[in-house]
Amino acid sequence: MKISLLLFLLFPYVLSKTIRVDLNGSNQWMFRSGNGNSSGMATVPGDIYADLQAAGILDVDPLSGQNGVKLKWIGRTNWVYERKFNVDQAMFSKNVVLLVIRGLDTVCNVYINDEFVLANENQFHEHVINVRRYLQLGNNKLVVDFTAPVGYAYQKARTYEVSLEKNQT
Ligand SMILES: *[C@@H]1O[C@H](CO)[C@@H](O)[C@H](O)[C@H]1NC(C)=O
Ligand SMILES: *[C@@H]1O[C@H](CO)[C@@H](O)[C@H](O)[C@H]1NC(C)=O
Repeated sequence: MKISLLLFLLFPYVLSKTIRVDLNGSNQWMFRSGNGNSSGMATVPGDIYADLQAAGILDVDPLSGQNGVKLKWIGRTNWVYERKFNVDQAMFSKNVVLLVIRGLDTVCNVYINDEFVLANENQFHEHVINVRRYLQLGNNKLVVDFTAPVGYAYQKARTYEVSLEKNQT
């Protein structure tokens, strides 16, 4: 079975006299399902299976025996990861604040303070983007909104089939 959700690590920093804020860790991130019926603390970098286990929502080992079959719902669910982070005056006064994302697995959108920052659909891409204009002094919110990969893959497959049929006629 394939663990099919997120492994990532991110932090913004400022060039020249680098101020660096690590956004990874265990005590800041929260996860929740798209419909909100399960949620808990998350660890980044990490994955939804480990977070569900740590939250006591999963009480079986997803890698053991046939458990993966019972746990298919996890890959069919949208998952939202969210944390707050602080921007102090020193960072706020910079023109360039880079958000560095080591990897996002896989289909997701990233938002800062509810503004769209980037879309990802490749687990192996790193992202380095100037997010200064999304930031506010004090409390900020970073959200990674994952779309269930199974539905997304079916949708892509259908699109390819249609375009293939068109090409043949
Ligand atoms: C966060 O990432 C930094 C840089 O890779 C690392 O030095 C630090 O140990 C990490 N912290 C946690 C809590 O994972
Ligand atoms: C949450 O909702 C999903 C989809 O409706 C369902 O499959 C899952 O069992 C629910 N989980 C809990 C903990 O209620």
